[in-house]
Order: sequence, then structure tokens, then C-alpha cells
Amino acid sequence: MRIDIISVLPQMFTGLIDCSILKRAQEKGLAEIVIHNLRDYTVDKHRKVDDYPFGGEAGMVMLIEPIDNAISHLKQQRIYDEVIYTSPDGEVFNQPMANQMSSYENIIILCGHYKGIDYRIREHLITKEVSIGDFVLTGGELAAAVMADAIVRLIPGAIGDEQSALSDSFQDNLLAPPVYTRPAEYKGWKVPEILLSGHQAKIDDWKLQQAMERTERLRPDLLDKKY
Ligand code: ADE
Repeated sequence: MRIDIISVLPQMFTGLIDCSILKRAQEKGLAEIVIHNLRDYTVDKHRKVDDYPFGGEAGMVMLIEPIDNAISHLKQQRIYDEVIYTSPDGEVFNQPMANQMSSYENIIILCGHYKGIDYRIREHLITKEVSIGDFVLTGGELAAAVMADAIVRLIPGAIGDEQSALSDSFQDNLLAPPVYTRPAEYKGWKVPEILLSGHQAKIDDWKLQQAMERTERLRPDLLDKKY
């Protein structure tokens, strides 16, 4: 899978997309994440990416032409499943969306900035608008990195133990059960006995019951969700 990210702050992605699982998935050839500097697609000598809004509101608006140039340039090279714009008014990103996108071949993520982007881009070039939650970020870069992380880790082979991506919190609308490792006792704080028992069926029952109890207590809204 290939993810092309268009941004005015490409340096923000350093360290976010080249560590850990994202790094390994790219090294294994499972994913390619390519960051494009929007200023490389500008048409004037000042490399301008924004301008004052018509109608006199406060704040700057991102220009159509560099964005159209960047998207057109990419579309000439391959077919994209989605051209996504990160925005607080988009559909809220969740695990089913990440699952679906992890099966795509190619996506573009355009990171919003300033007061927004010229609305004609949203009408004519964007196929999906995605928010990562009901709060306003300075720009869409962190949102794009969050999405790339959640999507790439789901590509088969990205995580060593494939089972572990499937047993994540949210995969079945349940929070994950607690996990423990050595030592079995620390300062008198004990690991639940059942986990040391070796009875796999009983352990699985315990995990499910813990997952349900934690979900009811911490995120009861998940139990009503029908994805
Ligand atoms: N840009 C600014 N806020 C955002 C949010 N919550 N999600 C996605 N993109 C954003």
C-alpha cells in the first residue's frame, strides 16, 4: 500500500513515520509513505500556498492551484482509492475505517492548515474528509500521521504476531483485557492467578470477561455500536 501525504510542514513527519512498526512495514515493502512538500507545487517565486479569504474573514486560506498541481501530479502516476482531506468537520476516524483503508492500494492525504482550504478543492478533488476527533489541531499533519499509523499496522505482516492486531481494543467493539509480564509478583502486587494456571480455555474466558467488564465500565458507548 502507498500513502502520499501532502503538507506545508513535511518536517513534522520526521520521527513519526520512520520508527517502529511503520519503519518495519516500509522496509519489508508492505507500505510506502511518501511526504510531499506543497510548496514544491507552487507557481510563483515566493512559493505562496495561501491567501486572504474573499469576504474578509480572519485567517488565511490555502490556494487551489498548488493543491490541484500536487494531486494531479500524483494521479498521473497511479490510481488512488481515496483522496482524503484532514479536517475537524470530517467523518470521525475509527477502527472500521482503518480496517477498510488498510485494504486499499493507494491513498492521498491532504493536510489542512490555516483557516481551511479553498472550498472548490473539497468539492472537486477530495473524495473523503476525515477528522481524528472533536477538537481542533493546528494542522492536519498529526491527523495524517495518526491515520497512517492505524492503517499500516493492520496490513498483513506489518505486526510480527498478526493475531495481536486482530485482538486490539475496538476490533470487536471491546476494550482489550489487561496484560501482565514477569515478575509474577512485585512489591506484593500479584498477577491474576488464572493467567499462570496454564488452562488456555479458562484464560480465554477470563480475558473475554475482563474485556466486557472494562468496556461496560469505561466505554459503555462501544457496546451500542453496530459497525
Ligand atoms: N485539522 C484540525 N483539526 C483536526 C482534527 N480534529 N482532525 C483532523 N484534522 C484536523
